[in-house]
Amino acid sequence: MKRIICKDYNEVSRLGAFMFAQQIWSKPDSVLGFATGGTPVGMYRYLVDMYKDGMVDFSAVTTFNLDEYYPMSKSHKQSYDYFMWDNLFSHINVKRENVFLPNGGAADAQKACDEYEHKLTLHGGVDLQLLGIGNNGHIAFNEPCDELHVKTHVIELTEDTIEANARFFDSRDDVPRKALTMGLGSIMKARRIVMLITGKAKTPVVKQMFSGMITPQIPASLLQLHPDVTVVLDTEAAGEL
Ligand code: PGA
Repeated sequence: MKRIICKDYNEVSRLGAFMFAQQIWSKPDSVLGFATGGTPVGMYRYLVDMYKDGMVDFSAVTTFNLDEYYPMSKSHKQSYDYFMWDNLFSHINVKRENVFLPNGGAADAQKACDEYEHKLTLHGGVDLQLLGIGNNGHIAFNEPCDELHVKTHVIELTEDTIEANARFFDSRDDVPRKALTMGLGSIMKARRIVMLITGKAKTPVVKQMFSGMITPQIPASLLQLHPDVTVVLDTEAAGEL
């Protein structure tokens, strides 16, 4: 895994946006993998600015998001669908029909996961995948556990994740207990991966991820097996490296 240490959140966001812009410049009909959470917000702002300045064109791009709460309607303000339109898609020229997220409103969760995985395959997989990392080492909603799933699946969120995400909801009780998430196999199939990590809270998990050991208790440690991962960190997150 390549690492790039930047001064702060702003520089991490700018570099992340530049990597996505470069991907689109080299392949205008790229399949991009996007993520939610606090970390990518700055990167999305940079991408919107670059679009407004005429530097990048999303008209031929297809996007797949990593995950969605379950059950969750698209119109809910804390849905990842809402987040993506609010932070990025509404401000750029991506075509609505080229945007894909797991369907948190589906009656049959497993069927929604299977359909999502199928769509991903039909589109030839992801060219450049954005990832964050949870304080507990999760990527997407692949939580620490004894066995990891390969494909898109339904997952029970851990108490750590519910706690970490409660800040986005009115109360902790409002955080959904389940999610639909791409599996480790779906993520590892991406041709290139860029992971953005910022802030002191992530320092311990960053150290574990780069430890040289692979364990399902730190799902992000599996990325050590991927041939093209760039981890962009700020100095706080990189602290103990
Ligand atoms: P964060 O979440 O960007 O809000 O820290 C990252 C994650 O949980 O993957």
